[in-house]
Amino acid sequence: MSQSKPLSSSAVQGLSGRVRVPGDKSVSHRALMFGALALGRSTVEGLLEGEDVLRTAEAMRRLGAEVTRLADGTWELYGRGVGGLAEPDDVLDMGNAGTGARLLMGLVASHPFTTVFTGDASLRSRPMRRVSEPLSRMGAGFVGRSGGRLPMAVIGAVSPLPITYELPMPSAQVKSAVLLAGLNTPGITTVIEREATRDHTELMLRGFGAELTVEPLDGGGRAISLKGQPELTGRAVKVPADPSSAAFPVVAALLVPQSHITVTGVGTNPLRCGLFETLREMGADIRLVNARDEAGEPVADLEVRCSALKGVDVPPERAPSMIDEYPILAVAAAFASGTTRMRGLAELRVKESDRLAAVARGLEACGVTLEVEGDDLIVHGNGQAPRGGAVIAVNLDHRIAMSFLVMGMASREPVRVDDAAAIETSFPGFTPLMNSLGARIE
Ligand code: S3P
Repeated sequence: MSQSKPLSSSAVQGLSGRVRVPGDKSVSHRALMFGALALGRSTVEGLLEGEDVLRTAEAMRRLGAEVTRLADGTWELYGRGVGGLAEPDDVLDMGNAGTGARLLMGLVASHPFTTVFTGDASLRSRPMRRVSEPLSRMGAGFVGRSGGRLPMAVIGAVSPLPITYELPMPSAQVKSAVLLAGLNTPGITTVIEREATRDHTELMLRGFGAELTVEPLDGGGRAISLKGQPELTGRAVKVPADPSSAAFPVVAALLVPQSHITVTGVGTNPLRCGLFETLREMGADIRLVNARDEAGEPVADLEVRCSALKGVDVPPERAPSMIDEYPILAVAAAFASGTTRMRGLAELRVKESDRLAAVARGLEACGVTLEVEGDDLIVHGNGQAPRGGAVIAVNLDHRIAMSFLVMGMASREPVRVDDAAAIETSFPGFTPLMNSLGARIE
């Protein structure tokens, strides 16, 4: 385990500049997995080289794919073909990565061998029954710790069965785990989601040549059906900049007086953009310019100016499109005038940490008035900068660390985080990038 890395962020004025944040984490994991399955050569440009994704790259190598980083930063893969993965000769340590662990558990569930997964203290505390339950129905076996936690062995099905599965919670990870198991399963595997979650798996699987249909359902939601045992063919993937990482400089520019910044090439998939929509409703000056399509995903440059924000009511239906962005939205709400009610945040309790508790504790320590009512977070702002001046316990949660460092950029007293090392999982280069815009994080 590396040494803890405390950081402190102090108030600044006038952020300015043009930056590109690292590649999308969700798209990066999937690009490596599908490239490792496809026949022939795939390339991935703009891959997020954060710890989470590097763990997936290593796991795909252990499962038999050829995965190489070329000198120009492009990643090159030669895949094994659907059903062609090989038994890994050691435990797959997925580090902090819930997406890497859950999607891969799905992928290997329909291969006739055993794979053992583990991770860091955060990942080992997260619920895996949400994936083992549907995957058992497809014929896989699971031996894990109590409560369905890692370390866990996945005993892949010899003759996997296709299922129709309705998600009990809105989760793109669970949806993707079932679809990925469906890849090496004869027949049609169907996932029903009542609330649409990020659709990178669907978009990219189609791009690699899978037959996949998405049908809207009466009463909302959709049914996603995948025809098993497709021939996937290698292709070039271009990874957009991660909107979940762009969220940090965007909110910083809204809060720090006299700021005007541009974040370029950000993914604007509508199932990821709930934060930007909410911030606009709060009065944020965020403009999408130069909108374009890059290898199947929409992207744009975000031009952001400091804005006076007002409190809003964020409906629970919006949660899937901004699930990772509530910590930074709560920080923005603390600077707004009036009350922001964020509804339906149950899923926040099972992220890299219990984010609902972490955000509430951290904001309170920074002098912000708030309540947690059931699964709702209610933040009261008065349009003034909160005091700040607290030390925040990160608990291996990258988004908690970054959110509170942004808070320190505009609060009256500096905000410290006890260990910023976790930021490397999703946003390598966060501190120099923010400082290049004018932040004082040290
Ligand atoms: C992700 C889905 C979300 C999100 C995570 C990435 C994905 O998790 O929080 O950071 O890439 O599919 P859930 O599916 O658990 O909501």
